[in-house]
Amino acid sequence: MSKSYHIETYGCQMNVADSELVSAMLQKAGYQETGNIEKADAIFVNTCAIREHAEDKVHSRLGFYNKIKEKKPSTIIGVLGCMAQNLKENILESKPYVDIVLGPDSYRKLPEMLNDRTAKSSHIVDTKLSRFEVYDNLFPSRAEGVNAWVSIMRGCDKFCTFCIVPFTRGRERSRSIDSIKNEVLLAVDNGFSEITLLGQNVNSYDYEGKKFHELLKEIAQIKNVKRIRYTSPHPKDMTLDVLSVMSSYDNICNYVHLPLQAGNNNVLRRMNRTYTKEEFIKLSNVIRDKLPGVGISTDIIVGFPGENEKEFYETLDVMNEVVFDSAFTFKYSSRPGTKAAEYDDHVPEKEKQRRLESVIKLQSEHTLIRNKKFINKVELVLVEKESKRSVHQWAGRTDSNKWVIFNKKSEKIGDIVPVYITSAHGITLQGKIQKIQEMELVS
Ligand code: 5AD
Ligand code: SF4
Repeated sequence: MSKSYHIETYGCQMNVADSELVSAMLQKAGYQETGNIEKADAIFVNTCAIREHAEDKVHSRLGFYNKIKEKKPSTIIGVLGCMAQNLKENILESKPYVDIVLGPDSYRKLPEMLNDRTAKSSHIVDTKLSRFEVYDNLFPSRAEGVNAWVSIMRGCDKFCTFCIVPFTRGRERSRSIDSIKNEVLLAVDNGFSEITLLGQNVNSYDYEGKKFHELLKEIAQIKNVKRIRYTSPHPKDMTLDVLSVMSSYDNICNYVHLPLQAGNNNVLRRMNRTYTKEEFIKLSNVIRDKLPGVGISTDIIVGFPGENEKEFYETLDVMNEVVFDSAFTFKYSSRPGTKAAEYDDHVPEKEKQRRLESVIKLQSEHTLIRNKKFINKVELVLVEKESKRSVHQWAGRTDSNKWVIFNKKSEKIGDIVPVYITSAHGITLQGKIQKIQEMELVS
């Protein structure tokens, strides 16, 4: 009888893509995925180390796996990804029930390790980072849905002082255009309507001199790729070439994620973000100018060490200037091993919470302002899933990345349909399917 595995994923989309890779490798080695964690022969957790909160969730999950193992001692427990890289000693010492610890560049070894593990009984650990591993020519086993994540580069060389990623995922390296194209072709053949190109620093892609905009162009030209997104870019590497390719191809979504992090130049410098507030605002204006109707989202950290009240207000100033469509907002979380963790002027938790609340409040006003601009317009929406509110409604996204809820007619998941937007509440839009003749598309 074939063995079964269960895998859980925490953290970013990169981890979702990595779990799909791991699944493909396990299935090739004869393992079958199961949703029933208590029955699985092996349980894996793909982990995230970016904030303490993400780690806490995994620690508590591991406690639950241990309970399963107490009842069924043959269960193999594996910790994969960034926490494995970062906390291997801690995991091995405090959680002796963990059998396998594998960093993000060591997944190829998993099938062999599982074999070894059944033979021997000690822990198996591999957290060596590679300068080359990009998991080329390994096709991920994708979950169903409309979107296929395609990893185009791994690692990060930016070393923002708050961020653990350069330490857990190692140096930047890009995958060849040919191998990315093959994966996209396969995803399209398998019925995926949307392709999201992924990387920790997607726009610093460089394969033998081929840059990100050249890759983007080649992917856009592949037949039947209905929609292309990419995440996450770094503002410093955002070029006019990228914007020009985006405006030339209808299937590249009119959406840019542009992480601001903070609005004060002194804080930005201490974060090693390599741009100023003024440069960021200028860039967002250029993006809005070159890509009319574009959706711009951002990441914001409040309470970076040493950030005083006045400096924090400059984050709100930049938000008021740019009026982002949406934002992922975080309280600074000290990550041992990073440069910022050594700064001695940490902002008190209560203050961080207060700042976070003001950022969230301002952003919800801005999201509504941006969303209201869509009312009485027709948008092309990709039907992605049934709405949580009703079995009679779909949920889908505009190419500017806004969720729209609308009543079902005869369309199916994966179709792109014109939807007349009737209202905007919270972060979602409501609409109704438009007959083609009545279309007046938002440019
Ligand atoms: N604390 C809080 N937020 C962080 N991020 C990265 N590191 C930290 C940290 N130590 C946020 C950044 C990044 C996003 C993926 O996570 O905003 O863009
Ligand atoms: Fe972390 Fe900065 Fe690299 Fe993004 S660019 S992964 S925030 S170090």
